[in-house]
This record gives sequence, structure tokens and C-alpha cells, in this order.
Amino acid sequence: MNRGGRVALITGASSGIGAAVARQAATSGYRVVLLARRAQELERVRGSMERSDQHLTVVCDVADEKSVERACEIVGQRFGHLDLLVNNAGSGYRAPVQEFDAALARRVLDTNVVGVLLCAKHALPLLKRGRDPVVVNISSVVGRHAVPGQALYSASKAAVCSIGEALRIEWAAHDIAVCTLNPGLTSTGFFGAQANPGKLDDPSLATAHGPEEVARVVLELDRRPRPEVFLRPKWRWLAALRLISPRRAERIFARRIGEHWRAPRR
Ligand SMILES: NC(=O)c1ccc[n+]([C@@H]2O[C@H](COP(=O)([O-])OP(=O)(O)OC[C@H]3O[C@@H](n4cnc5c(N)ncnc54)[C@H](OP(=O)(O)O)[C@@H]3O)[C@@H](O)[C@H]2O)c1
Repeated sequence: MNRGGRVALITGASSGIGAAVARQAATSGYRVVLLARRAQELERVRGSMERSDQHLTVVCDVADEKSVERACEIVGQRFGHLDLLVNNAGSGYRAPVQEFDAALARRVLDTNVVGVLLCAKHALPLLKRGRDPVVVNISSVVGRHAVPGQALYSASKAAVCSIGEALRIEWAAHDIAVCTLNPGLTSTGFFGAQANPGKLDDPSLATAHGPEEVARVVLELDRRPRPEVFLRPKWRWLAALRLISPRRAERIFARRIGEHWRAPRR
């Protein structure tokens, strides 16, 4: 199916996976709305995209309903509809439970969970006017296999999986396909962002996905939507095993996760 001319709204497009999706979508002929909080970074990404004048940057905090509502109004005024929504904005949180910081944790939940629902809510009227509309929610492997030291972040990503399950049924009547994508460790600044600056030199990142690989799968899902996708078959099998034998799955997961996951630091 030709995706040229489709309108895509990508949250968290100022860096990492979101920026990679924006660039690939532009190369495939999409008109892209890049959304995040940092205006300069958004403009930098837009400037690096093909046909940069056809795309739009919108400064928005997905945790703030007014901000999301305004962003969707801007998209409506410029394009009139939306064909693809990629709920990618997210922030990390690592801390052993004894160091749990409730205020910081609420902020993460507001972004990772409430933000997905707010974007879905305010994008719905635009998606209803779209052509073969698709939503891709970026969860994580940790949404299905919780990681020690990341209970809050894992829970937020499990919530994203649940939101996908609920919306798929809720929006079937509108013919909107809803997909959940669960990347594993991806080589972006994500973990560095939370006071762990040395992380990108971590040797465990040698086995990580590149953001471009994740972006390719996002655009594949727009062409051929599927309910839930892992980038590596091992994570899919492990999710299935968890339903039958949770203890065995947990043991295998604990063996598979490298030092990167095992050392919970903030
Ligand atoms: N990296 C990994 O290993 C990995 C693995 C699995 C899943 N993921 C998920 O992939 C997504 C993208 O992460 P990434 O690895 O690409 O990290 P990243 O480079 O840090 O990107 C996060 C993006 O989210 C935006 N963002 C954060 N809070 C926001 C808010 N309140 N409102 C609007 N935008 C906000 C950031 O932009 P501003 O700061 O400009 O707002 C940034 O563009 C996240 O949902 C993450 O949970 C990452």
C-alpha cells in the first residue's frame, strides 16, 4: 500500500526512536508532525528530514491535557486529519524500591501512561477522518517482563500494553487499528537521561537495537497492523511461556538480562 501523503503525528520526536521514525516517515513520503517539549531539538530533527518544509513541529507536554488539546488543534488546522499516531514519548525511572521518590514517579506515570491516553483522546476526531488510521503505542519488553530496580517504569509500560488491548476493542467500531510495539534495549540517550550518563558506553548495548530498526517496525505496522510485536522472537516466546509457567519464564529472563538491567541506579 502506498503510504505517500499520509499524515503522521509522532510524540517524543525530538530524539531517539521518535526522531528516527520521523526521518524514515519523511523519506517514505509521509507528512510528519513532530511533537515534544524541546523546540530547538524538534527543529533540528525537522531540518534533517527530507522535504523538511512539509513537516510541522509542535511543542507539547503530553502529560498536560491543555497542551495536548492545543497540539491536536494545530494538527487539525494544518492537515485536517491524521492517519498515523505514534505514542512514543516516555521517560525512564530506575531506583530500588527503598529509594522510591513518589513525586518523580507520578511525573513518569503522567508522561508514560496518562500521556498516551491524552494523545489518544484528543487525536481521535482527527484519526476518524484519516485513511486506514493506525495507532502505534511504544511500550517495551519490560512491559511484559518486569525488571528489578525498574518496578515503576516496568509498570508504566505494562499499562501501555493494557491501553493497547482496551483501545483495540474500543476503537474497532471506528476501524482504527491499535498496535503495541515492545522494543528491547535500544541505543538512544534514554537511560543516560536519568542521571546515568556513562550508560551509552555500556558493553551490553552491543546487543541493543538501533533506533532505526525500531522505526522500520513502526512503519511496517502502519502498512500491516498487528496487535502486539516484539523485535526479537525470544521475547515473544518468553511472554507466551510466562502465561504457562511464570516461575520458569522469570528464571530465564533473569539469566538473559545483562548487567545493564541488573544494576539499578538512578
Ligand atoms: N531506549 C530504550 O532502551 C527503550 C526500550 C524500550 C522502549 N523504549 C521507549 O521508547 C520511547 C522513546 O525512548 P527513546 O529511547 O527514544 O529515548 P529518548 O531519546 O529519551 O526519547 C524520549 C522522547 O520523549 C520525549 N518526552 C519525554 N517526556 C515528554 C513529555 N512529557 N511530553 C512530550 N514529550 C516528552 C522527549 O522529548 P523532550 O524531552 O523534548 O520532551 C524525547 O523526544 C520511550 O517511550 C521509551 O520508554 C525505549
